[in-house]
Amino acid sequence: MRHRHSDYMYWAKTQSRARYNLATSGVGPFPLAELPRQPALEINGDSTYGYAPLQQAIARKCGVDPDCVVAVAGTSMANHLAMAAIVDPGDEVLIEHPAYELLVSAALYLGAAVKRFARAEANGYALDPAAIRGALTSKTKLIVVTNLHNPSSALTPDAVLREVGDLARSVRAHVLVDEVYLDAVYENTPRTSYLLGEEFIVTNSLTKVYGLSGLRCGWILARPDLARAMWRLNDLFGVIPAHPAELLSVAALEQLDVIRERARNVVEADRALLAAFLARQSAVSAPRTAWGTTVFLRLQRGDVEELLARLRTDYGTTAVPGRFFEMPDHFRIGMGVNTDMFGEGLCRLGLALAG
Ligand SMILES: Cc1ncc(COP(=O)(O)O)c(C=O)c1O
Repeated sequence: MRHRHSDYMYWAKTQSRARYNLATSGVGPFPLAELPRQPALEINGDSTYGYAPLQQAIARKCGVDPDCVVAVAGTSMANHLAMAAIVDPGDEVLIEHPAYELLVSAALYLGAAVKRFARAEANGYALDPAAIRGALTSKTKLIVVTNLHNPSSALTPDAVLREVGDLARSVRAHVLVDEVYLDAVYENTPRTSYLLGEEFIVTNSLTKVYGLSGLRCGWILARPDLARAMWRLNDLFGVIPAHPAELLSVAALEQLDVIRERARNVVEADRALLAAFLARQSAVSAPRTAWGTTVFLRLQRGDVEELLARLRTDYGTTAVPGRFFEMPDHFRIGMGVNTDMFGEGLCRLGLALAG
């Protein structure tokens, strides 16, 4: 039987909300009214294999040629389409562990033989080329990583990604890097790993770091021949996007700095609260980063499901159970939505941990 669902996404859509919602992964929604320069909207436009102004705006943001850009509905569709363009049933796909569940589900849906390689908690979940080498075979078609890493926000340096690229090249595989959180490195933001070599394919969107999830402005960066194949495959799914969203996406891409700065203030205030919380808590531990919107906590003693059930029922607060990352002793919390809510959520988490 084909894998045709995502348990995590079902949970996220039906169970994750609460008054004190620590189960988020991206920053809070950016309101249209706060966009300094508003675009004129129109219903229909000239979009075939991309809408030229949007292709150019994404290409400019990433420092690539527009021929490399495939505009799609969010990083979700970008990941699905990128995998579907490369993977045939039975092909080996190596995916990091712990991982964003949808990456695993999408590969399984495509009939891939999914193999995992570990990102070790003791090492701050750093991406380890040796772990990838240990899982690599001549049947490997794709190596899948996130940068920043979801759930831990670990950042992978270019030198390490290059090593992974070399490994992929040695078996004629590609590396898929999901960069949806990368721009949450606010100082010295790394350039896209697409620029590191021929084997890299990158997915991204304006969802997590910019609060623009509703635009569904996602993209894939791939070599032009592969990008063309992805466009052709996309014809089977959606043909063209909603044009008003394309116009709004172009306007947003022209004003990204303003949009990012608004969220940055919230993320940084939340991170300061998190640091103080972790400093006084011995019941949980987590590798720290100076960037990112998510943190992956280990519960030192006790049962995470029981804790999170109590946190929800008694304290109106939610967090993401680690079972969705195949690490049931952990849970993930998110920053960047609202600092009052985050602070109160942490306070309530502290009470639940003490109870
Ligand atoms: C690693 C990763 N990729 C993709 C997505 C989905 O992004 P989008 O909303 O752009 O489809 C998420 C959402 O949680 C994510 O964590």
